Amino acid sequence: MSANLEALKHISEDSGFPITIHPNFSPRIKDHVPPEPVREQLFPDKDRATFADPEKKALFAVAKATDLTESIGTVLEGVQLSQLTPQQLDELALLVNERGVVFFRGQDLTTEQQVRLFEHYGTLDRHPAQKDVRHVVIHGSREDHREVLKYTPWPLGDWHADTSFEINPPSYSLLRMEEHPAVGGDTAWVSGYGLYDTLSAALRRFVEGLHAVHTSRLQYDTILDLWGVGPNRPPVDSHHPAVRTHPVTGLKALNINTGFVTGFAELKKHESDKLLDFFAYHIHSADDHSVRWKWEVGSVAMWDNRCVLHRVIPGGYEGPRRGIRTTVFGEKPYYDPNSESRAERQRRLKAEAAAPAANGEANGHSAVKEDPISAPA
Ligand SMILES: [Fe+2]
Repeated sequence: MSANLEALKHISEDSGFPITIHPNFSPRIKDHVPPEPVREQLFPDKDRATFADPEKKALFAVAKATDLTESIGTVLEGVQLSQLTPQQLDELALLVNERGVVFFRGQDLTTEQQVRLFEHYGTLDRHPAQKDVRHVVIHGSREDHREVLKYTPWPLGDWHADTSFEINPPSYSLLRMEEHPAVGGDTAWVSGYGLYDTLSAALRRFVEGLHAVHTSRLQYDTILDLWGVGPNRPPVDSHHPAVRTHPVTGLKALNINTGFVTGFAELKKHESDKLLDFFAYHIHSADDHSVRWKWEVGSVAMWDNRCVLHRVIPGGYEGPRRGIRTTVFGEKPYYDPNSESRAERQRRLKAEAAAPAANGEANGHSAVKEDPISAPA
């Protein structure tokens, strides 16, 4: 537990818990004046993935792809990111849209090259607590994330999409590990496509009408108290669609995370709390839609915050962990009621592919197989 926490100086002798964690308890929080204003909405250029060859022939000509799970995560081998052409970078973006996160090992990329590579994808974003204009240094977490929640309001070890509280949350993130312990400090990702598809049809319909309240307020207070770092911008709340449509794949993804979402704008408090409780269970139990990555020095992960959540796995490992992360601004999240889910698309494509054969069959039975979600074998 960090000795730096002001909250630790306000423990009740009776209970052993903080008397209150109101931000005014800490002068570091109360007195902080962020130097920058709240952001205005941006309108990013068309996503580079929309320019990609759907078959990704240029990328797959040089890279061997291995899917780590059915739902999420692909490793690309035999390729250096530093050598990719603009065409291959566009195809990589499309692969990231589809697979959620793409991994590399043994990369020779420098920070300067990483920044230039990411500028291909758009305008570089800047985390509220980020000092350098173009990248942020990511360390691990050795805090016991269960313990620290007694003293800080932000669940810092929990699932999130990077800065999902922004009006324009980042689309792509790329994290490259420069220092890493031999064991510990893994990162896990979970698919927003899968999290949507595994809800019941009734809950899918209900959640599609909701807006999730994504807030930086809890992180703002916690960053100041725990790390003493002054966020650059005042805290914000954004009401984003609880189900968003991906602008490139056109697929629906659940846009709720346990790290930044505090409720649902359309619901009453207790309704909202219970539903959020359910989503904490739903996200934390989705092992069939998640992937866990063991880092080495030179490993890289590139993910799409619009269709995956992630979290670092906290631990008590020895030695430094230091990664360089770059992000670019994404569009303001939107929901298109005419978009389809990943499972719906798979079923439609399968039916379309089978349709000519089915039409020729004398018995007239449809070639469409039963929904695999409702018929686990
Ligand atoms: Fe993150």
